Amino acid sequence: MMNTTSSWRCICVPGPVIVGAGPSGLATAACLKERGVPSVVLERSNCIASLWQLKTYDRLRLHLPKQFCELPLMGFPTDFPTYPTKQQFVDYLEEYARKFDIEPRFNETVSGAEYDTTLGFWRVKSVGIKGKGMEYVCRWLVVATGENAEAVVPEMEGKGEFGGDVRHTSLYKSGEEFRGKRVLVVGCGNSGMEVCLDLCNHNARPSLVVRDTVHVLPREMLGRSTFGLSMWLLKWLPIRFVDRLLLIISWLMLGDTARFGLERPRLGPLELKNLSGKTPVLDVGTLANIKSGDIKVCPSIKRLKRFAVEFVDGKTESFDAIILATGYKSNVPSWLKEREMFSEKDGYPRRPFPNGWKGGNGLYAVGFTKRGLLGTSMDAKRIAEDIDRCWKHEAKHHLAFSRSPLLQQPSP
Ligand SMILES: Cc1cc2nc3c(=O)[nH]c(=O)nc-3n(C[C@H](O)[C@H](O)[C@H](O)COP(=O)(O)OP(=O)(O)OC[C@H]3O[C@@H](n4cnc5c(N)ncnc54)[C@H](O)[C@@H]3O)c2cc1C
Ligand SMILES: NC(=O)c1ccc[n+]([C@@H]2O[C@H](COP(=O)([O-])OP(=O)(O)OC[C@H]3O[C@@H](n4cnc5c(N)ncnc54)[C@H](OP(=O)(O)O)[C@@H]3O)[C@@H](O)[C@H]2O)c1
Repeated sequence: MMNTTSSWRCICVPGPVIVGAGPSGLATAACLKERGVPSVVLERSNCIASLWQLKTYDRLRLHLPKQFCELPLMGFPTDFPTYPTKQQFVDYLEEYARKFDIEPRFNETVSGAEYDTTLGFWRVKSVGIKGKGMEYVCRWLVVATGENAEAVVPEMEGKGEFGGDVRHTSLYKSGEEFRGKRVLVVGCGNSGMEVCLDLCNHNARPSLVVRDTVHVLPREMLGRSTFGLSMWLLKWLPIRFVDRLLLIISWLMLGDTARFGLERPRLGPLELKNLSGKTPVLDVGTLANIKSGDIKVCPSIKRLKRFAVEFVDGKTESFDAIILATGYKSNVPSWLKEREMFSEKDGYPRRPFPNGWKGGNGLYAVGFTKRGLLGTSMDAKRIAEDIDRCWKHEAKHHLAFSRSPLLQQPSP
């Protein structure tokens, strides 16, 4: 149903509105479709999976084996490698959207969403490319805007003075354009470590800012993926014991990482992940370059100068470019006017995993578990099941109401 009488257009959506056409939004739409519940997917960019298509570097592959990254109802093609490339993952998502006939409304940025207590519906406002406004009125709202919606760009003293290129990893494609250059990579998560490796492979000269402790684990151990092995061990052993094992094997395979400037946290990798959400780095070759001195580890930055950086240990070094591998944040507080389910502070559901997917008044969250695509699949299935239950219940009421004697025509 559409109201076009005023300058903005209003659409009443019979099923849920899903905000975001990344893997989480697609998975939820597919699970709903499977149950016969229609949905409308709103996406700010011009394609599905915009994080993967527009904001990731060329050499990216899934870090976890494909069986841990597939979305519900459709596996990866059997001829895909264990760790699919970014393009293969995007191809898989395109095929997924085709199979479930998901056609997001592209170039629509959701700028506000609020529950109308009088109506008992959500009012979702979006802005198109030419500033065209739309309002969707719906019974259910699914937040699928992701943990990586916006780049985190830290304040740094002297930032305006630096003469070279400063960019976030979301704008980094390849080390090719940095060939021969001295590049400072800030942040040692999976992005920072992998970008350093890419820079080395393109004969650039990277240094890496490590401001805190970090767990680096080999991507594979004992012939299995580290992630798969951990999941398997956790079925039988307590988390602290599994952490001990992972650290012993890592020490045997990688050596003492503290010797190269990468001190380990006091808590083990899985316990730390569970408590704080901090992901361990899965090494795909960066550590060898750190050991050989091809990548230099530096402490925190004190200030930037024209073509140099002063570090907190008082040393100053020259650099041509700076890459900020400083992570991402949720953008939910900027558009969702709701304070109970989502924290205003970090834009994540307040209730911890596995209970963060459902709020009040028909509000849901998919993909905010800090557990990657595996968490996405779990959320999507639960949300579809829950909405389907209400959908069927309401349909039954509608039917009963329409058959009610009150609505029957009086006989002539
Ligand atoms: C470099 C990198 C590599 C990764 N590799 C892996 C991996 O190997 N395995 C794994 O499990 N996870 C990985 N992740 C984690 C990643 O978060 C998930 O893979 C996945 O992309 C999450 O899907 P999502 O749909 O929740 O979020 P996203 O993929 O971020 O999708 C959210 C969508 O919402 C849209 N959106 C945001 N705000 C609005 C708005 N206001 N209005 C309309 N649309 C909006 C965005 O444009 C985007 O398309 C990686 C992340 C990064 C950054
Ligand atoms: N192939 C893959 O599968 C792959 C590749 C890349 C990324 N990813 C995933 O993508 C997500 C995002 O990863 P990410 O590496 O981009 O972000 P991230 O995991 O959040 O790491 C950001 C890093 O930047 C550091 N940092 C932040 N601000 C800083 C500052 N001012 N100075 C110095 N260091 C600073 C953080 O240090 P602190 O810890 O001290 O805050 C942290 O080490 C993660 O889930 C990750 O696993 C996956």
